[in-house]
Amino acid sequence: DKGKKVNENSKNEQLEQFRVNDEGKQMTTNQGLKVSEDEFSLKAGERGPTLMEDFHFREKMTHFDHERIPERVVHARGFAAHGEFEVYESMKEYTKANFLQDPSVKTPVFVRFSTVAGSRGSADTVRDVRGFATKFYTKEGNYDLVGNNIPVFFIQDAIKFPDLVHALKPEPHNEIPQASTAHDTFWDFVANNPETAHMIMWHMSDRAIPRSLRMMEGFGVHTFRFVNHQGKARFVKFHWKPILGVHSLVWDEAQKISGKDPDFHRRDLWESIENGNFPEYELGVQMIDEEDEFKFDFDVLDPTKLWPEEVVPVKIIGKMTLNRNVDNVFAETEQAAFHPGHVVPGIDFTNDPLLQGRLFSYTDTQLIRLGGPNFHELPINRPVCPFHNNQRDGFGRQTINKGQVSYHNNSLAANTPIPATEEEGGYVHYQEKIEGRKVRSRSESFKDHFSQARLFWNSMSKTEKAHILDAFRFELGKVKNKYVQQQVVDMFASVSLELSTAIADGIGATPPQGEVSESEVMKSSPALSQINTK
Ligand code: HEM
Repeated sequence: DKGKKVNENSKNEQLEQFRVNDEGKQMTTNQGLKVSEDEFSLKAGERGPTLMEDFHFREKMTHFDHERIPERVVHARGFAAHGEFEVYESMKEYTKANFLQDPSVKTPVFVRFSTVAGSRGSADTVRDVRGFATKFYTKEGNYDLVGNNIPVFFIQDAIKFPDLVHALKPEPHNEIPQASTAHDTFWDFVANNPETAHMIMWHMSDRAIPRSLRMMEGFGVHTFRFVNHQGKARFVKFHWKPILGVHSLVWDEAQKISGKDPDFHRRDLWESIENGNFPEYELGVQMIDEEDEFKFDFDVLDPTKLWPEEVVPVKIIGKMTLNRNVDNVFAETEQAAFHPGHVVPGIDFTNDPLLQGRLFSYTDTQLIRLGGPNFHELPINRPVCPFHNNQRDGFGRQTINKGQVSYHNNSLAANTPIPATEEEGGYVHYQEKIEGRKVRSRSESFKDHFSQARLFWNSMSKTEKAHILDAFRFELGKVKNKYVQQQVVDMFASVSLELSTAIADGIGATPPQGEVSESEVMKSSPALSQINTK
């Protein structure tokens, strides 16, 4: 099927084999036996005890008892839709990724948006990072771009992720707060891990309260690699830009909507698609030649840094349209397994230490969340191209692999799967030259935590600054431990004395030492004077 084009319907056609229409059908057990009664259990006498023999009752109840699976350890609350992606022009010069070659090809996609901290039942409009995970069902296998709506991250090394999430999630002794950063452990983590500074600036900005999932950017965050047919590699960062533009709520709206309609974002996405107002996002890439790796005043592998768009422009290369709601949220949205390690030839990794750790984490968590090693067989996770290997058995195995031999190499069977050459589409990892000692440390080039946080602050309008300040005062103001509050105030003096002084002023902390040169700007902000910080 090498020359065959994947089209936007191929995933839909595949899913069709699994759709079940129960309408107008007679009820049966899972063994296909027709059921004669579904309201009363089998009893010994009309007023007597229920009998163990009642297989229908046992099966119905057992299945119900096992309906829930663990929610995602992060990004538990999510909402998803199907769609298609088309590239505007061939990206052959930069990558051999097949789905980025031909503008006439439409690649099916499945996108899940999420919040990070709250549980499955939390509200949509909380202040939080939004996940933006896209699965491209390409003819070379599934490619997952598992991104967020903020271009940088809290930490630089995956080994800190469990700490970050333990600090961010509800506190263990009382499970409060459900989905908010307004608590001691979160800000204590921030104060003790200054690499969080840049991300916190975005987190306290209006970006963390999007108006709609249709009006939100997406970012791959990490630096990946594009590799072309000649083997030339370039560093690449991915961007999604919404056609409707980027829009946010204001905090007062976000809080009220949380109460009035906790499903605000999912309802908005669902209704837009039902009404034919299909959400659209353009895919953009920033590229840096490998030779230019050290030409910047930030480390290109540091996930707490962005590449300023005026320095490295975003090249818009294609468009994604979300045009179909799911049929069943559990089967599709909940069972979807995204993974930043799902790549196709032409897309490769870099040594970003956050990305490297993510490559381990996702399969590991999905093994327990989705009950064993066969979740790639779930309809939503199946690639639209064939898959063959010697993996066998395990909980929930669905395929019936024929034949005596399930190993490689062998001489007993003629037609067992064999690896493909690079020319035949086999994935060959980019042969980066690696040299060094085994060490547990952070590169010196990862140690500047404040420059880009400061750039972010300085690039904000007066109104945006006022919103950021308001968010700091609200979130940090709820922290009970005065020492934690003071540490955060002192830390953000390295971003802006003006900001830090104004935060201190709003929460009753001691202002940091130093001259506040820009405070007049804040005082004259019309939005600031209207802010209710309590
Ligand atoms: C979900 C781990 C950083 C975006 C998850 C899940 C885990 C995880 C365990 C749950 C997956 C599942 O149950 O299917 C990590 C680790 C990280 C990290 C260890 C850092 C070392 C990031 C970053 C981004 C990101 C930097 C954005 C670029 C997402 C998204 C989801 C997710 C969007 C939800 C996917 C979905 O909708 O199913 N992450 N994550 N994560 N993560 Fe990460």
